[in-house]
Parts: sequence; structure tokens; C-alpha cells
Amino acid sequence: MRTEVAIIGAGPAGLLLSHLLAGEGIDSVVIETRSREYVEARIRAGILESSTVALLDAAGLGERLHREGLEHRGIYLQWPGERHHLDFLDLAGCGVWVYGQTELTKDLGRARDVAGQQLYYGVTGTAVHDLDTDHPYVTCRTADGIEMRLDAEAIAGCDGALGPSRAAVPGTAKTTWERTYPYRWLGILADVAPSTDQLIYAWHPDGFALHSMRSPAVSRLYLQVEPDADIASWPDDRIWDALATRLGHGQDGWALTPGPIAEKSILPFRSYVMAPMRYGRLFLAGDAAHTVPPTGAKGLNLAVADIAALAPALTAMLRKNSTALADAYSATTLRRVWRYTHFSWWMTTMLHTTGDPFDAQLQLSQLRWVATSTAGATGLAENYAGLPVDS
Ligand code: FAD
Ligand code: DHB
Repeated sequence: MRTEVAIIGAGPAGLLLSHLLAGEGIDSVVIETRSREYVEARIRAGILESSTVALLDAAGLGERLHREGLEHRGIYLQWPGERHHLDFLDLAGCGVWVYGQTELTKDLGRARDVAGQQLYYGVTGTAVHDLDTDHPYVTCRTADGIEMRLDAEAIAGCDGALGPSRAAVPGTAKTTWERTYPYRWLGILADVAPSTDQLIYAWHPDGFALHSMRSPAVSRLYLQVEPDADIASWPDDRIWDALATRLGHGQDGWALTPGPIAEKSILPFRSYVMAPMRYGRLFLAGDAAHTVPPTGAKGLNLAVADIAALAPALTAMLRKNSTALADAYSATTLRRVWRYTHFSWWMTTMLHTTGDPFDAQLQLSQLRWVATSTAGATGLAENYAGLPVDS
């Protein structure tokens, strides 16, 4: 089979790329290891920056988001005895949207269905070949067991942190940076109305906690846990007790309402960047090239920002025979990647307890400054609510 762009991975990055390329009349084929049901039900990110929303609007993908998403003008930052509101609209001129990655993935999937996109779910044995030639290709086995060879002008590696694209770049052609953290998150989805109107990021001596949401009827909450924590040692009652303590149940009359837990899991937690984000005709985007710890909600937004740069770069390369944007793709994109790698690291190290009393005092001092100084609060607001997509 022949196509112009072979896209590996039907996560947000791969689906959005196929959508934007189709808008320019460029043909692509998407291959994905998981089933469509699995991809669309996979609970992950939930916060969209305003620049992400603007891009989705411009691509004709914002209709349900505006109808069902929740627009938030800020967040609460708290530590025992104090809760402060940071108003992003006042501080940085824009807010954020609560809209689950599951919903965005479904919207993208439907838009691709309408356009007749070629999408192969359930493939196995994906491999990339001849990346440093003008005739790269991808091989895999389809869900029906048929061996497939996909010849393309370019390959987009949108296959996440564990996909083959990242690994296909030879060690001599890449530099990688990695940071692991001595904790992870336990995340729950609960069928109960959120106990807050906006997200609460809470520092607590027992560990960090975050109160987020998915809708007026569904809450999403996270707890800092040990890196080797076993989900079996966190029965529902223990989770709700820890959330109540860390989020300040009873403080100034605030109450956390528990409810039935629909899903719980322990999330990976690390920073990773690979540069360049291109090798020959293979272009990497989203988690395939970089991973951020979830504090600050940047992973999905970064994936969208990568695609906002990659789609015009591939369009210029394939339609105008101009490689300037494709040649600049990695350097341009990595500026934002490093900004948000720093921001995610900064939010993470400010809010997660390490057990070291000196660290705790520095964190509390930093939190007081961020919450009470306009300069400190504006820095957080700009990074959280979003820099322009091309910055
Ligand atoms: P992905 O969404 O990972 O998509 C990659 C796709 O490639 C997947 O569907 C995968 O199945 C497919 N694939 C992999 N290997 C192959 C192969 N060999 N062949 C074909 N296809 C392949 N971010 C936040 O901001 N907040 C959160 O709360 C949050 N929670 C997260 C929880 C988890 C468990 C994970 C893993 C990530 C979370 N993230 C979160 C990060 C965010 O979800 C990602 O940054 C985002 O999904 C990146 O999109 P992507 O399209 O680049 O990669
Ligand atoms: C969510 C996840 C985050 O990592 C975050 O910082 C805020 C919200 C969420 O899943 O809702």
C-alpha cells in the first residue's frame, strides 16, 4: 500500500495529524496496536490550554468541547490551613478547559470516520524501515493477520513513550535526557459531583493531592504514593480518607464528598526528552519524543502543539517542495517542549513531599510566594493556561 504520510499511533497526536493533513488534501494511513474501544476509553489527561482549544476550533473539532467541556478561569493552590485562588484570566488573559482525553479522542475518531480516513486498529509487529532514504516504509500485521507494507513520503511516529519510533532512531543520532521521581500518582475516577468549582492542587506533609473533574457529575482525583505502591493496598476507604486529609476536609467549612470509584490506577511518573525529534523521513511527535510528569497537565497539550507545527511542515514538504519548515520542526518544537518540561518538573518538585524537612520548608516558601506575589502567580498562570501555540 502507498500513502503520503504513514502515521504510527491513533492517540491524540496521530489522529489530529491525520485530520490536519486531510484538510490540506494530504493522504495518510494510521496504524494502531490497540483496539478502537481501548483507545477511546483510556483514561488519561483532562485539561486543555486555551491555545489547544483554539487549534481544535480552527480545525472544526471544538463543537462538543464547547457544549460539554467546563471552562475554568483558574486553580486553587493550597497547603495545610491555607487555600489561595489563582485567577488565570486576570493574570495571563486566558483560562483552561476541562475536557477528557477520552472525549477528544472520540471527537477525533468521528471526524476521521466522516472523512473516510484509513485506520488500522489492532496491528502487531510495527517496524519502520529505510528512514534515511527518500523511500521510507512501515511494516506490520493487520488485525486480520495480513502482512502489510506501507510505503510513504514521510513517517510520523506518534506512538507514545513505548512505541517503536523512538527506539528506531540510532543512538548516535539522538541525545536523550531523563529524570525519574521518587513517587507516583494513584488516580481515581469517581461517580460523584466535584467538591470544588475549580481544580485544587494541595501540598500536604502526607503527600500531594489533586482534585480535578471530568463533568458536573464525575470527579477525577489523584494522590502522591510511593514509587512501588501496590494498588491492592489502596482500598477505596483508604483512598477517600487520604484525599480528605490532604485536601483539607473540614477546613473553613469545606467538605470532600466521596462516591463510588469507577476506575483506579497508578500512573507512570518521569521526565524524558529526545532530540532531535526527526531522523531522516521519520518525524516524532507527542509522547513518542517527550514525556512530562502529569503535574501541570502538559502532556496532551504538548502533543497538540507538536502537531500544530508538524502538519504545516509536512504540507510544505509534500505540496510546495519546501523543506524549510520540516528542517526547522525539531528545533522550533523543542523550545516549547523544554519550557513545559521545566514547568512540569517545577510544579512536581514544588508540590510533592520527599520526607526531607529542608525540602518541605523550601516548598512552603515557594508556594507562599507563588500564591501571594503577582509576579509568582503570573509565572504559574502563563505556563499553566498556555503560551501561544507557536511560542
Ligand atoms: P498516546 O496517547 O500515548 O498515543 C500513542 C498511541 O500509539 C497509542 O494509542 C498506542 O497504543 C499507539 N502505539 C504504541 N505502540 C504502537 C505500535 N507499535 N504500532 C502502532 N501503534 C502503537 N497527561 C496529563 O496532562 N494529565 C494526565 O492526567 C495524564 N494522565 C496520563 C495517564 C497515563 C497512564 C499516561 C500514559 C499518560 C497520561 N498523561 C496525562 C499524558 C497524556 O495522556 C499524553 O501526553 C498524551 O496521551 C500524548 O498523546 P500521544 O498521541 O503523543 O501519545
Ligand atoms: C488532570 C491531570 C493533571 O495532571 C493535572 O495537573 C490536572 C488535571 C486531570 O486528569 O484532570
